[in-house]
Amino acid sequence: MLEILGEIDILILKSLWLILPAYAANSFAVIAGGGKPVDFGKKFYDEKRIFGDGKTWRGLISGIAFGTIIGVLQTYSSEIIEFPSFGFFPSFFIVLFCLTFGALFGDLCKSFVKRRMNIKRGGKLPVIDQLDFVAGAFLFLLILSPSWFFQNLTLYHIIIILVATPLLHRVMNIVGYRIGKKKVPW
Ligand code: CTP
Ligand code: MG
Repeated sequence: MLEILGEIDILILKSLWLILPAYAANSFAVIAGGGKPVDFGKKFYDEKRIFGDGKTWRGLISGIAFGTIIGVLQTYSSEIIEFPSFGFFPSFFIVLFCLTFGALFGDLCKSFVKRRMNIKRGGKLPVIDQLDFVAGAFLFLLILSPSWFFQNLTLYHIIIILVATPLLHRVMNIVGYRIGKKKVPW
């Protein structure tokens, strides 16, 4: 199947493949989220919520679990389709932890910053809203798995991910809004 694709197409597919566990974690947090907020409803020194009701334990834990499952499935199918893998057992769990926990950590940091900026839950913060989770995943990879990061992500992959993510994010949020999982379509 891959023979009919050109080099650029494969580069795009590989870029999305490498970031897929982070996408999965972020999307599944939205689908499965709800219940107890991560900040337990507590306020920060400025009397505003630490993270707000949009960040829940269920979203966090199920996002990490789902993203990791996707990453493990990808790792075991990577040989068949000759795509990059997340490493060998058990070290791929570190890479997948960076991609999933890092993504949701980036998302949490964004909400923290939004609350300090007096932006209510669900309020817009352009660019940051779209790239928070990619930034979190990259940051964790750079700290915990720099060798995997530099062996697999070239500047081209990074640019493609940074350009494609806001576009995909927009599409996914409209879907989330339509199925009633998001209060606002962004
Ligand atoms: N969600 C969750 N737990 C998380 C992340 C997301 O439960 N750790 C769910 C929440 O239901 C949230 C929805 O996914 O409302 C959309 O996520 P996001 O857009 O990141 O949150 P917002 O509601 O927009 O809140 P914020 O203003 O803090 O970004
Ligand atoms: Mg939001």
